[in-house]
Amino acid sequence: MAKRVTRLGGLLAAYQRRDPAARSKLEIFLLYPGVHAVLYHRAANWLYRHRRFFLARCVSQWSRFWTGIEIHPGAQIGRRLVIDHGSGIVIGETAEIGDDCLLYQGVTLGGTGKDQGKRHPTLGNNVMVGSGAKVLGPLTVGDNARIAAGAVVLRAVPANSTAVGVPARIARMSGRPVYYADDVDQIHVADPLLEEIDALSRRLEALERQLRETNHRTERTA
Ligand SMILES: CC(C)(COP(=O)(O)OP(=O)(O)OC[C@H]1O[C@@H](n2cnc3c(N)ncnc32)[C@H](O)[C@@H]1OP(=O)(O)O)[C@@H](O)C(=O)NCCC(=O)NCCS
Repeated sequence: MAKRVTRLGGLLAAYQRRDPAARSKLEIFLLYPGVHAVLYHRAANWLYRHRRFFLARCVSQWSRFWTGIEIHPGAQIGRRLVIDHGSGIVIGETAEIGDDCLLYQGVTLGGTGKDQGKRHPTLGNNVMVGSGAKVLGPLTVGDNARIAAGAVVLRAVPANSTAVGVPARIARMSGRPVYYADDVDQIHVADPLLEEIDALSRRLEALERQLRETNHRTERTA
């Protein structure tokens, strides 16, 4: 029991840290849909793990009705998940979320419809997913990564990076911009002039060989 209270205290403190508008822990506990959704999910997940699938689904649908946040009972959620504003959030059955993550409204941790078994993403620790972002498929988002608002993530996102856009590209690695030039091999660049000289020298060698052979034949017949 004491452990559960400490866990709840940690969750409420995380809201206070993340949301500048949050006032007291009591207010957060009573009025924040993200807190309610996580608490309902703990019950639904317990039922799911004990193979009470129908009841688990009932709890999660009830939670969805009240909070606008749909978390499948099978989803694995770490400690201190903050769901800011709630509404329109969908977290799929095989999704995994690490500790200290932050999700804004309208986030989907969903499947692409192409995968079997593990179909939903795995988020590391301290990952932020901006409002309206869609993270689709059994991909991994590394620790401390940030997914920009409105991004559609279809590939793995490395740790400490920022993914933006549709489809998402990595715009920052450890806070530093990622430029296209970084991906270009600037050492092994083909030089068109050298390639032309190489081709000419090969033709010259072939012509010299032919000339030698012709001379040989002429000498023998003479
Ligand atoms: C992505 C984000 C986390 C900032 O992360 P960051 O690592 O500090 O990145 P930067 O602000 O330096 O931006 C990196 C690049 O991505 C671009 N970018 C930032 N947010 C973007 C977005 N949502 N969509 C598209 N591009 C975006 C920036 O313009 C910048 O482009 P550049 O490389 O051409 O200069 C932030 O912009 C964001 O989207 N936060 C979501 C917050 C949210 O959902 N709030 C809802 C509150 S209700």
